[in-house]
Amino acid sequence: MYVAPSILSADFANLESEIKAVCEAGADLIHIDVMDGHFVPNLTIGPVVVNAAKKSSSVPLDVHLMVENPSFFVEMFLGIKPKFLGFHIEAENHPLRLIDHIRNNGISPAIVLNPHTPISSLKHIINSVDMVLLMSVNPGFGGQKFMPIVIDKTKELKELIYKTNSICMIEVDGGVNGLNVAELDEAGADIVVAGSYIFSSNDYETAIRSLKV
Ligand code: DX5
Ligand code: ZN
Repeated sequence: MYVAPSILSADFANLESEIKAVCEAGADLIHIDVMDGHFVPNLTIGPVVVNAAKKSSSVPLDVHLMVENPSFFVEMFLGIKPKFLGFHIEAENHPLRLIDHIRNNGISPAIVLNPHTPISSLKHIINSVDMVLLMSVNPGFGGQKFMPIVIDKTKELKELIYKTNSICMIEVDGGVNGLNVAELDEAGADIVVAGSYIFSSNDYETAIRSLKV
């Protein structure tokens, strides 16, 4: 299992040292939550801070856009060259066009599904993306409770990936901890995002290791 700490739960007054600490503690990616105050009821950071975060990180960035009008926001992050740049399927009328645009800029496109959005909506997208991010909480805040319905969604997505010979990865985000990660692994998840579980622990290395099942 790859582990992507979400800096939403980090100490933003000490972002550089927080990012360096999770990188040293075994993070595989740094997950960055960009919220616009419209698509979700919270507002976080933009390209200036994401660029600063990149300078502090020794591992690639995984940028999760929780925004309306993703095609407008994508432009702001292309130059930063994250490993993954993902947007919500619920927010974009022309996801395939935006996916191609991200890929043509040398970045791995990811598509994100809210908890209620069915896996069937990916049927004609799955072969175009490098990662599908399944939300296991309603997006907007860290520290929420994991929604068990995502276990069956992960299995269904794994099946779709298998049937379509896709090579895309499955990432799960929200409420992930040392207790539910084994079930996610069995269901087929490749990457877990964890914010509060890692950053509220007093030993980042032990917390990250406990997710690497
Ligand atoms: C929620 C964000 C998540 C969040 C995860 O909207 O997309 O990435 O930071 O935080 P935890 O792990 O605390 O649920
Ligand atoms: Zn996220």
